[in-house]
Amino acid sequence: MSNDSLSLTARPQWRALHRHWARQKDIHLRELFAADPQRGERLTAEAAGIYFDYSKQRINDETLRLLHELADACGLSARIRAMFGGERINTTEDRAALHVALRARRGERIETDGADVVPEVHAVLERMAAFANRVRDGSWKGHTGKRIRTLVNIGIGGSDLGPVMAYEALRGYTDRALRFRFVSNVDGADFVEATRDLDAAETLFIVCSKTFTTQETLTNAHAARAWCLQALGGDEKAIARHFVAVSTNAAGVAEFGIDTDTMFGFWDWVGGRYSMDCAIGLSTMIAIGPDHFRAMLDGFRAMDEHFRSTPFARNVPMLHGLIAVWNANFLGAASIAVLPYEHYLKRFPAYLQQLAMESNGKRVTLDGAPADYATGPIYWGEPGTNGQHSFYQLIHQGTQVIPCDFIGFCQTLAPLGNQHDLLIANLFAQSEALAFGKTLAEVKAQGTPDALAPHRVFQGNRPSSTLLVQRLTPHALGALVALYEHSVFVQGVIWNIDSFDQWGVELGKALAQRTADELACTAEPALNHDSSTQALIRRYRRLREHSA
Ligand code: F6P
Repeated sequence: MSNDSLSLTARPQWRALHRHWARQKDIHLRELFAADPQRGERLTAEAAGIYFDYSKQRINDETLRLLHELADACGLSARIRAMFGGERINTTEDRAALHVALRARRGERIETDGADVVPEVHAVLERMAAFANRVRDGSWKGHTGKRIRTLVNIGIGGSDLGPVMAYEALRGYTDRALRFRFVSNVDGADFVEATRDLDAAETLFIVCSKTFTTQETLTNAHAARAWCLQALGGDEKAIARHFVAVSTNAAGVAEFGIDTDTMFGFWDWVGGRYSMDCAIGLSTMIAIGPDHFRAMLDGFRAMDEHFRSTPFARNVPMLHGLIAVWNANFLGAASIAVLPYEHYLKRFPAYLQQLAMESNGKRVTLDGAPADYATGPIYWGEPGTNGQHSFYQLIHQGTQVIPCDFIGFCQTLAPLGNQHDLLIANLFAQSEALAFGKTLAEVKAQGTPDALAPHRVFQGNRPSSTLLVQRLTPHALGALVALYEHSVFVQGVIWNIDSFDQWGVELGKALAQRTADELACTAEPALNHDSSTQALIRRYRRLREHSA
């Protein structure tokens, strides 16, 4: 059997990593640092303005060499070429995953199915810029002639998480005269609260949906339509001034009643969770302006170019992705905590949850065989320092390994006394405490009573990486997102899974539709579920009619 067709766990490189881990697992980070005074400078890399310190990971040069060999055996370079080359690497949906084309320079050629997609990408960006400028300068008027003051993005998943994350991240660059709201949940509370203080005459809805069939988004878009018409006297002509759409489905948009002139398109080779830099980012572009949006695209592209062309030893997304594999499959880490010490990145962990978990939450390989190894870890997190006062206890002293990604910036966008230094001091202190801990001897030396001493010991040896960037700019945000996109891709290549499909969301959607029909029935519906679901449906139907 050729090495190419071996399953991951049968590969000699995988087995070598297992043997290596058996030798490595009792070595403490304290010893690794003591043995190599340069470690903290050596085990670092830099890309597109992002300094990546992975020296506090439980690895050594041999680990990196073996991971590199594994990546070669799994054909990582060929898979990267296939992605950038527009091949249909999303095999279960038979499409390319060509988000890198969204940030290609004008004039660059990126083809899929023999067609260069870059001119279309730039044509949409130009239309977006023209529209964004009209909203920003007030020349786009609402139905009654008033200028637009509030933008409401309606979308869910990739059609929401990217826009809301980018808006929050880049608030410092936004036009503060405009307000932005984001409605995603089918729970009416989301729409009601987002619109309760708005004047419809000054509100523009951006309905974002790749498919334009998503239940939550269409339900909210219809609610918005009704809300708008009611407030504006019922004239259907108002819709064209107060609704624009972003979608790949022009027919669906037209059927909803939005003029395709104010529809901004994209393509089936852009996955929802990889779409914040195409027209799905229209709200971002209106908020920060076309120039900042282009700077964000430049950041994405700088990371793409680095990923595509930098040798393994200095390739930040490769190192980042392979370390995630190492932690998941050898250290047994079931999750990764993403901890931005930057309040503007407060939605970044939520954004990464979809990016990473919808991409790599797969249990079968590309050939449909069960994966006999752990795949996609759980991504989660909160901004520092808030998380320190809630869940860090478990990371420091719990029984599970939780690798952390600390993200920090050297300059603040919100200077306030010495608060930024305090913030970053906390970041550095946390990664230091996790790695080096506090021994029993150190605890006792401080006079801690014996009975208390075990509680005050920090084992340390808890892995983390630090991403340090000069300042949170649109460019930096683009580079950061692209770093995680490519890291997730690297992980998926090693695990031999399709990181670009999401069949796992389908069953729940289908069952919800059937159950919604049963909840809508006026007569008692005949149910054909399990006894638990049936009892829940009956109880809900009964109690929703009664006052509390
Ligand atoms: O149900 C999952 C999903 O398809 C995501 O992948 C996607 O980002 C989200 O729903 C929204 O889809 P759409 O943009 O088509 O409304």
